[in-house]
Amino acid sequence: MWLCPLCCNTLSKINNSWSCSKRHSFDVAKSGYVNLLPVQYKHSLEPGDNKQMVRARRNFHDTAGYKPLMQKLSEMIGKYISSLNLTEFNLFEAGCGEGSYLATVTDSLNDEDIRVNSSGIDIAKPAIELAAKTYKKCEFAVGSNFRLPLPTGSQHVVLQVFAPGNMKEYARVLAPRGIVLTVEPGKQHLWELKERIYKTPKQHQPQLHQVSEFDVVTAEHLSFKMELSDTVRQQGLLNMTPYVWKLSDEKRAKLSDILDSVTVDFTITMWTLLPNPKKDTQYAQ
Ligand SMILES: C[S@@+](CC[C@H](N)C(=O)[O-])C[C@H]1O[C@@H](n2cnc3c(N)ncnc32)[C@H](O)[C@@H]1O
Ligand SMILES: [Zn+2]
Repeated sequence: MWLCPLCCNTLSKINNSWSCSKRHSFDVAKSGYVNLLPVQYKHSLEPGDNKQMVRARRNFHDTAGYKPLMQKLSEMIGKYISSLNLTEFNLFEAGCGEGSYLATVTDSLNDEDIRVNSSGIDIAKPAIELAAKTYKKCEFAVGSNFRLPLPTGSQHVVLQVFAPGNMKEYARVLAPRGIVLTVEPGKQHLWELKERIYKTPKQHQPQLHQVSEFDVVTAEHLSFKMELSDTVRQQGLLNMTPYVWKLSDEKRAKLSDILDSVTVDFTITMWTLLPNPKKDTQYAQ
């Protein structure tokens, strides 16, 4: 299932490591993940989210704050997969963080008797470590969304939630009739929080409009008011939101006191490949 990040040959698992025919070898960590991010593709010492952010995100997700989004994604994927009449399919999450989305979607699909091989990568080692420790139904690897360690044409669904990525790479790894689902912040996302931090808060502007290889199947908005009376949820949200960090302790404490709910607003886009896209057969970058 994984590709060697050095030579692009298939990796096979032998005992506790993944190796390719050129004898590049990657050990499986104690928690069960494999690190497929060679040092030459690592643009900083500790790329991606740090341990504190990962912990904050997990604490937040454990309070089910974004459950409606996870449910919506599960429904969309379930419906799509049922239309393919496959007995088994491959779901991949690019930039999966600590793994809550992938695990939740996998569980809901399994509940519907859909067999799914779920795997995710993130560039942040602490995120993948926590994901692999907790969610044993999924496979996790440290890797970059811009150079996916995946075979060409191997994935039926690629999911990308609030993470940077490369649609050309997604086009490469997508199986025939596969889909990409992206989630971006909608215009009103976390508005009450922004209003209290910025003098002139700006609405989120969607980053993904048109992508040459893809057609948009649906673009949906999901928006609701999220309760923040649970302090674990509230603190988790604040700690995983980078623009909160620049606040002084005093301002942050004040914000915690008054923020009892917030608007969450997501744009969920489903993409399919155009009939004859120019598909790369190697890494897109
Ligand atoms: C805002 S977080 C979202 C995490 C998760 N999808 C969620 O919503 O809980 C963005 C994630 O993208 C990861 N990331 C950033 N650059 C990346 C890259 N080039 N390849 C893979 N992951 C990346 C970060 O480490 C972080 O976990
Ligand atoms: Zn190799």
